[in-house]
Amino acid sequence: MTFYRQVGSIPPKRHTQHRRPDGGLYAEELVGEEGFSSDSSLLYHRGIPSSIVDARTWELPDQTLTANAPLVPRHLRLHDLEFKEADPVLGRRLVLGNADVRISYAVSTAPSPYYRNATGDECVYIERGSATVETVFGALTVGRGDYVIIPRATTHRWVPAGAEPLRTYAIEASSHIAPPSRYLSRYGQFLEHSPYCERDLRGPVEPLLAEGTDVEIYVKHRGGGTIHVVPEHPFDVVGWDGCLYPYAFNIADFEPITGRVHQPPPVHQVFAGQNFVICNFVPRKVDYHPLAVPVPYYHSNVDSDEVMFYVDGDYEARKGSGIGLGSISLHPGGHPHGPQPGAAEGSLGVEFFDETAVMVDTFRPLDLGEAGLASDDGRYAWSWSGRGPTA
Ligand SMILES: [Fe+2]
Repeated sequence: MTFYRQVGSIPPKRHTQHRRPDGGLYAEELVGEEGFSSDSSLLYHRGIPSSIVDARTWELPDQTLTANAPLVPRHLRLHDLEFKEADPVLGRRLVLGNADVRISYAVSTAPSPYYRNATGDECVYIERGSATVETVFGALTVGRGDYVIIPRATTHRWVPAGAEPLRTYAIEASSHIAPPSRYLSRYGQFLEHSPYCERDLRGPVEPLLAEGTDVEIYVKHRGGGTIHVVPEHPFDVVGWDGCLYPYAFNIADFEPITGRVHQPPPVHQVFAGQNFVICNFVPRKVDYHPLAVPVPYYHSNVDSDEVMFYVDGDYEARKGSGIGLGSISLHPGGHPHGPQPGAAEGSLGVEFFDETAVMVDTFRPLDLGEAGLASDDGRYAWSWSGRGPTA
């Protein structure tokens, strides 16, 4: 994270005595990235954060990945998927993935177990619904259009709220996820040209304390999953401070950058991970050169697979392709893509696009998860030519 935050009770000086009402010491824990060389926070626990009383295997949902072969663009209809598990963690179905990032989707009505991703940071986009994300740092109230950034190894759980099912699009990294470095000063402040800034980010505001014994925490890690049983409730942090914590950012707070002619996707970037970026396309005025073509030109991102998730509005460039809300388009590196026939002409003179989409561009090829295979419409590759194989 990029800036300092302080919540709850902490001592005036780090690594000094901080005592409970009964006179005992709180346990100080440093949670830090890149050894001791990057962002960190200091947490003060009532119990001992390393205590466990049992460890057993957690059988993860199907993590099988299948190569995109034959190599074709694909249209995945996430709203056609069915869900047996009703919670936002155990219910995740794997759509796409590679060694750097895995994208899954869940439709939930029930709370998740306590959960910790020991592989990397998570960016969970909320397509619909609302929830409370309870974490060791405090709670976040989140809803439609929020990106929820949860740092690696943060113990937390999701509690859906309201009558509407919670639809979550989870982007799980093998690395950290952060604002692009070009948006930040050398000391980490958002610069004036950034499309969002500190005021748009929501972090925990008070400690979240709970009581309990022998609590299960589902830990996802390289090679599988483990359920740790901890003797006391993991939400025992009376205070913390630092630059590493979960936060939320709403897509409606992204201020789009527009121009006289078409602006390239990097102006739409919101976050970066190792070997992938996250961009979003939001409702905006479009290109105002008198001869501008507002929809994108054809492009061949030779180093990227492009995953577009269509969450709101009406995406001009994909008219006639069958793509609608809840769709994903996968445009793999090695094959050019661009507007469907007629979309360029149809966009001439248009002044505003009412579209919202979340895009993940990966720098290594993506494979299809079981939910990607199950939701593939099988026809999208032929939508530019108007005909497919005749055999
Ligand atoms: Fe593209």
